[in-house]
Amino acid sequence: MIKGILFDLDGVLLSTDQFHFHAWKALADRLGISFDRHQGDRCRGVSRMESLEIVLQNSIHPYTPEEKQQFAAEKNRHYRTQGLTPADVPEETVHVLTELRRRGYQLALASGSKNAELILQKTGLGSLLDGVVDGMDITRSKPDPEVFCKAAQVLGLSPRDCVGVDDASAGVQSIRAAGAIAAAMGPAAQAGEGDWNLRTLSQLLERCPGTEAAL
Ligand code: BG6
Ligand code: MG
Repeated sequence: MIKGILFDLDGVLLSTDQFHFHAWKALADRLGISFDRHQGDRCRGVSRMESLEIVLQNSIHPYTPEEKQQFAAEKNRHYRTQGLTPADVPEETVHVLTELRRRGYQLALASGSKNAELILQKTGLGSLLDGVVDGMDITRSKPDPEVFCKAAQVLGLSPRDCVGVDDASAGVQSIRAAGAIAAAMGPAAQAGEGDWNLRTLSQLLERCPGTEAAL
């Protein structure tokens, strides 16, 4: 029986995936490296430094570890300048989270982002969640199952009683490895990678009905 739902942040609850793409693109442009949407999609769900390696794959220049740290910091400064407010949270996200809670499900964040707390604060999304696990809490990034296992744990649940929702291949693999049901969105859903492949977040409401007791 499904008791908990574990949400990725970027590209699932918010369109911050677009901000990540634009921040990497700005760095790539400055360095004279080509970087397109397809490569941007490969950065979904993977850590900041792994994303940087994807960006640098089209460069012939061998950069030092120090330079790479500077590039990652430059991208992160750009990313953090986004002026997110509660108005940037899609109404659909608020509706789905509120309704799932009303139906008796526990909700947690399972994000690989080290900026997640800042984003939850700026948008007020934190108040709609019962637990948060983010990039600051894990040592192994998706596709490792750590983030989804810990998110289930903060809810006091087994991953087997949870659904994970993610827009990235790495995220779907992470959910599966944790032993939860994988609900794919965005590119991962289009590729049919999930146990459930959702076109919209609202479709979760069809898959997660209310229990008599909760309604
Ligand atoms: C994930 C994004 O949520 O967080 C990735 O999908 C990003 O694109 C990763 O690289 C790490 O984010 P941050 O905010 O720690 O740089
Ligand atoms: Mg994502």
